[in-house]
Amino acid sequence: MRYRDRIGTPLFDGAVKLMLLGCGELGKEVAIEAQRLGIEVIGVDRYHGAPAMQVAHRHYVIDMRDPYALKAVVRREQPDVIVPEIEAIATDALLELEEEGFRVIPTARATKITMDRIELRKLAASVGVPTSPFEFAYNLDELKDACEKVGYPCLVKARMSSGGLGTTLVWSSKQVEQAYENARRYARGFGEHVIVERLIRFDFEVTELATAYICDERIDVLFPKPVGHIRVGSHYHVSWQPFLNPDPSTGQSDCPLHAYGGALHREEEPGREPLWQSEWDGKYVPNEIIEEVERQIYEVAGKVVRELIKGPGGEPVGLGLFGCEIMVRLSDPEAGGKPRVYFNEISPRPHDTGMVTLVTQDMSEMALHVRAILGLPIPEVRLLAQGAAHVVLAEKGGSWGPVYHHVDVALKIPGVHLRLFGKPYTYPERRMGLALAIGKTTEEARRKALKAAHILEEGIEYRA
Ligand SMILES: Nc1ncnc2c1ncn2[C@@H]1O[C@H](COP(=O)(O)OP(=O)(O)OP(=O)(O)O)[C@@H](O)[C@H]1O
Ligand SMILES: [Mg+2]
Repeated sequence: MRYRDRIGTPLFDGAVKLMLLGCGELGKEVAIEAQRLGIEVIGVDRYHGAPAMQVAHRHYVIDMRDPYALKAVVRREQPDVIVPEIEAIATDALLELEEEGFRVIPTARATKITMDRIELRKLAASVGVPTSPFEFAYNLDELKDACEKVGYPCLVKARMSSGGLGTTLVWSSKQVEQAYENARRYARGFGEHVIVERLIRFDFEVTELATAYICDERIDVLFPKPVGHIRVGSHYHVSWQPFLNPDPSTGQSDCPLHAYGGALHREEEPGREPLWQSEWDGKYVPNEIIEEVERQIYEVAGKVVRELIKGPGGEPVGLGLFGCEIMVRLSDPEAGGKPRVYFNEISPRPHDTGMVTLVTQDMSEMALHVRAILGLPIPEVRLLAQGAAHVVLAEKGGSWGPVYHHVDVALKIPGVHLRLFGKPYTYPERRMGLALAIGKTTEEARRKALKAAHILEEGIEYRA
């Protein structure tokens, strides 16, 4: 594998063409990064005016789950790289296109495995990474047994789904049937197949943005500092980087950990009741624990990514950044009170929690993704600042062309930056923007991002 050593001019013969399958806010930043390097960008999504379409050279509006539509636009455009930004894509069409010689990021096989919870758990088990105890079930009777085996409370999830759809938290056997119906209703395929997982009472979660890239004629994996995050329910709300910052002068983290269910977390997600409160909330974490957790995070993400990027002969072929979701317990009773991390799932593309890297790293997750998929060198990635990101959500649906008031008020806070995604239409809880902040510590950054995001949310004008 050689580095790419030349790039042509967009819209001319010899241009390097990148096709984005999915034009959301992550795709928009990927498109901008690609444009900066003189790449021709083609956006594809199911509706007009999607964020990345607004910065692409041109776009197509199709249903990407339709294999014929997908193959037709790819064959017409002949892109150098096909870059999936979402899961709901006809992955068998990607396999076919790959066989025709197109480069699918990271590989068509990886896009197929990562959207399938059952295949992904099998892969995790094969490389020996810890996960929550789980069972698969292929019908209702099996699910009833599976829930008993795993124990309550547990989560019933559809084999293929995302964004929390089709997932139910089950407290007792009485709820199992309803959970099964819910999983079937929202499944994206294999409607009868579900997975049951035991609820892990983590302190917080992290995303490791492990990146497969070309390094001196072979493919290697690079590990940026883990991103911490927290949420009640399935939607991303707040993230920060680094996940904990060891201070050598005190032997512990430079600020207290604001963990799941704690006071800051409750302020960040008002109106949502956390299921537990982490015993580490408000505490400074010893450096040895931080280092051990970080080591485990890289080990888990590395094992999963190295397996996922394998080609047919077992050699590494896939390129690009992955968002590896991991749950962290700083003192796990199941591990004799020692720290332990649990692999949750992984997506082969920039991750919503990773948008914090737009203000914390010298290369954001999107910049890393673009370099990696184009076969360009990444000699290092630096953490330049401690920072946080907080989502800006729409409260009401049905509004075209919402207007954001008080942007001046939010931007008066030092260290605050905004991303307004430019989505044409609101629906309740839709992510319309992001408040980013840097601070002396992640604690300070989280408080600034929280303030800015809530100012913006209150200032959204919903137009009839
Ligand atoms: N076994 C578990 N124990 C505790 N919490 C869990 C468990 N599984 C999922 N969660 C919580 O639910 C969130 C979403 O779960 P998961 O990643 O499986 O769903 P998803 O539908 O893929 O959501 P997303 O698309 O936002 O990643 C997790 O980030 C975590 O907060
Ligand atoms: Mg997830």
